[in-house]
Amino acid sequence: MKVLVIGGAGYIGTHIVYDLLERNYRILVCDDFSTGNRKNIIQHPNYELLEGDFKNESIMKKILSYKPEVIFHFAASKAAGESMIDPVKYSHNNIRGTLYLLENMIQNNIRYFIFSSSAAVYGEPQYLPIDEEHPRNPTNYYGFTKKIIEDNLEWFSRLKGLRYASLRYFNAAGYDIKERVKGLENEPQNLLPIVMETLIGKRPKMYVYGNDYPTRDGTCIRDYIHVNDLSEAHLLAMDYIIKNEQDITVNLGSENGMSVLEMIQIAEKVANKKIPYEITSRRPGDAAKLLASSKKAKEVLNWVPKYSDPETLIRSMWITYQKNA
Ligand SMILES: NC(=O)c1ccc[n+]([C@@H]2O[C@H](COP(=O)([O-])OP(=O)(O)OC[C@H]3O[C@@H](n4cnc5c(N)ncnc54)[C@H](O)[C@@H]3O)[C@@H](O)[C@H]2O)c1
Repeated sequence: MKVLVIGGAGYIGTHIVYDLLERNYRILVCDDFSTGNRKNIIQHPNYELLEGDFKNESIMKKILSYKPEVIFHFAASKAAGESMIDPVKYSHNNIRGTLYLLENMIQNNIRYFIFSSSAAVYGEPQYLPIDEEHPRNPTNYYGFTKKIIEDNLEWFSRLKGLRYASLRYFNAAGYDIKERVKGLENEPQNLLPIVMETLIGKRPKMYVYGNDYPTRDGTCIRDYIHVNDLSEAHLLAMDYIIKNEQDITVNLGSENGMSVLEMIQIAEKVANKKIPYEITSRRPGDAAKLLASSKKAKEVLNWVPKYSDPETLIRSMWITYQKNA
């Protein structure tokens, strides 16, 4: 089977491309390297790279001439803070770009779509853990872009038989347990890559945004899910929509809430090094606590996360950062 992976040289996409290659699929990766890493280009007989922006008409023509049966769509701008300052970048890449892709899929009868959605669709939690029925009220424009695409997927499924999986990731973290992935994230905005960059000395210190939240140690609590577990869920979701001819929308999280300080302490233990950090003021829009219910993914997809306990997850990052930074 031929699979197109848009954004397949990025952090999450690369992990999934390796797993797809192990399953003997033929892969076309389309990536413009706006945030992707050239170290993630893979030498493999079943792997082809199409360098460029999928929104570009000539790139879209090449995509269509490859005749993929399934499309994984990882390519998006993903910094929630930036989306509030530069919404046009986000409407262009995440909304217009994805709609253009979906229109082309429908016109060319490409039927299976795996979409990287996000916990950001939910906004401020009204209850915890957050299940898929939780109202979607994004508090940043990035989350809104994901919600809009989810809504369009529902219509295109109903009207045109597009089959999709919308996977709402919580905090993706960790690096490949098999150490295949060498390209690190550029200019990361998330906690754990920043912890790693501080550990390797790329940053003199890091900041903890607020220690006066109503949580056990005052810092924000998040749900971290290992990227290999995410990858497994993508493969299961692909099989599910093809086999059952049904759509699926699921949360992907570990169901284990960890505070910022707890993660820093585990990283210090794993690396056997102190991490210099400074407590600073809260960032607007940060919820005190986010926690997933992944019951649905477990029940419907038979998904079992294997690597998402915080120590395994952080160790996998530390190994990759030490080797590749
Ligand atoms: N990392 C997380 O914690 C997280 C959480 C929730 C959702 N997501 C979503 O998962 C997806 C992948 O995230 P990631 O962490 O791997 O990000 P990433 O930035 O590492 O990967 C995105 C990839 O897409 C490429 N890209 C972006 N725009 C493109 C375009 N117009 N044409 C071609 N290539 C383009 C980039 O170069 C990059 O390689 C995104 O859609 C993101 O919104 C990520």
